Amino acid sequence: MRHHLTFWKAMFKKPLTTGAVVPSSKKLCNRMLEQIRLEEADCVVELGPGTGVLTKKIALRLKKDAVLLCIDVNPIMVKYLREEITNARIIHDNAEHLKDYIEEMGAPADLIFSGIPFSTLPQRKAEKILETVKDSLKPDGKFVMFQYMHSTVHPRGKGILKILRQKFKNVKLKKVFGNIPPAFVFTCSKSL
Ligand SMILES: C[S@@+](CC[C@H](N)C(=O)[O-])C[C@H]1O[C@@H](n2cnc3c(N)ncnc32)[C@H](O)[C@@H]1O
Repeated sequence: MRHHLTFWKAMFKKPLTTGAVVPSSKKLCNRMLEQIRLEEADCVVELGPGTGVLTKKIALRLKKDAVLLCIDVNPIMVKYLREEITNARIIHDNAEHLKDYIEEMGAPADLIFSGIPFSTLPQRKAEKILETVKDSLKPDGKFVMFQYMHSTVHPRGKGILKILRQKFKNVKLKKVFGNIPPAFVFTCSKSL
């Protein structure tokens, strides 16, 4: 219940960047983690972790010495997540600056997850973040994000799929109806 209250508080303060009325469902989180080799990863990033529904599942599956880096732009989400999750580095910043943290760590990420509502962002901003994501991934790394189905009929939403296809060689789509609202999960790789 507390995570719902935090989510709503964050949403009322910053509706556009929060981009949803409730955290993602178990089904959506499980879909995002399907066929993803978390157990082998050394460095995992989550952009827009919110109240951490996916973060907790990721943290449970990581090996002990793996690094989990979470970046959220909303201070309400960051404060809550720092209290809830102790085995991750939780950063209050914009995902646009991801490369700075990757450079600081000295190695690119194996996996990057995102909950950022890209279709609410101006296309130039969305493109900048997705370029940073690509540059922060290992050559055989994967990027996993979701987008609500209704937003994919909007020109901005369509634009996101176009950007993903330009930046990544392989983009796979999965439907998730068990979420409010229903969503698509995109799994993107730099290599075929
Ligand atoms: C739809 S919520 C998703 C939260 C969580 N991942 C989930 O699935 O329930 C979007 C999250 O992305 C964050 N966010 C939006 N734009 C961002 C940006 N440019 N950089 C970092 N975080 C951002 C918001 O603050 C919010 O926590």
